[in-house]
Amino acid sequence: MKKEFSTKEKVLNILKQNANTYISGQEIADTLFLTRAGIWKAIKNLRENGYTIESVTNKGYRLVCDYDGINADFIRKSISENLSLKLYSYEEVSSTNDIAREHAAEESDLLIIANSQTNGRGRKGRVFFSPKDTGLYFSLLIHPELPFSKATYITCIAAESMVLSVYDTLGIEVSVKWVNDIFYGDKKIAGILTETFGSLEEEFPEYIVVGVGINIYPFSEELPSDIKKRAGFLVKNGGNTDNLKNLLCINFIKHFYRFLSEIDRKTFLEGYRKHSNLIGKYVQIKSDKNPSKKEYALVTGIDDECRLLVTYDDKKSAALIGKEVSVVKY
Ligand code: BTN
Repeated sequence: MKKEFSTKEKVLNILKQNANTYISGQEIADTLFLTRAGIWKAIKNLRENGYTIESVTNKGYRLVCDYDGINADFIRKSISENLSLKLYSYEEVSSTNDIAREHAAEESDLLIIANSQTNGRGRKGRVFFSPKDTGLYFSLLIHPELPFSKATYITCIAAESMVLSVYDTLGIEVSVKWVNDIFYGDKKIAGILTETFGSLEEEFPEYIVVGVGINIYPFSEELPSDIKKRAGFLVKNGGNTDNLKNLLCINFIKHFYRFLSEIDRKTFLEGYRKHSNLIGKYVQIKSDKNPSKKEYALVTGIDDECRLLVTYDDKKSAALIGKEVSVVKY
């Protein structure tokens, strides 16, 4: 069935066809057989949806943001209804997790977003490649009343929130490789790094920083070959670039705070299990202490504490936490 475009979409298309040049309201109105007032309403609507559209007397309108940029005001407006969350947006930072920590004294929850990172970090001391423009990198600093031992819940909440956000934004189904990796098909497209800070003598951590990095578009820079093999992205060149970074972030925040407020009931868990791509798979379990030691097991589930349930070849069962596993390919 042919898609019917709304007036807003038709106006956006014309602005994109004339990217970086001005087009008058009258010309758009004539092309679309609409009134100038109708065009003005559509432009207003597009601006409210995060598009930066310049208007100059006697020249007309120009779509300023012709690439998918971060629009902090738009994100702020979209999330501020029920949340008191401070937002800082940067073109480039070392690591959004580190910047979140630098602001930790501010006491409110924080969202740090960046268009690129020079020192993006992953789990277990790995590098998270964070080139400009093609990905979105952000960290939330939160103050949940959650015992240290349950910090894994936050990683699972973030992973499930990202799965739902990708679906809401693009209609694409992605999956989770326990505990913190998001996959599109057989490629990793996003990762989560949760860091907990505070004194173990206290009941709860002082704060938690949860960082999310997602590859949206193909990398423009040459990647190290090991990353190239495993890393994927959400949208091909020439695909939809409409405000994706902002919407992915906004939708993530909405789901994340909903799950966080329902953490006692663990409402994230059903979806997290459903979106797991490990359950039923035969995996190799990496040993932190002895990397040459190889153990294999069948993944049977994820328990209520977010641990990975496995049955080893000798039929013994275990609930894993903090481990790294990889699917065995035959
Ligand atoms: C992983 O794959 O092991 C986790 C990757 C987490 C990357 C994100 S990007 C935003 C935040 N800042 C960082 O330095 N890391 C996280």
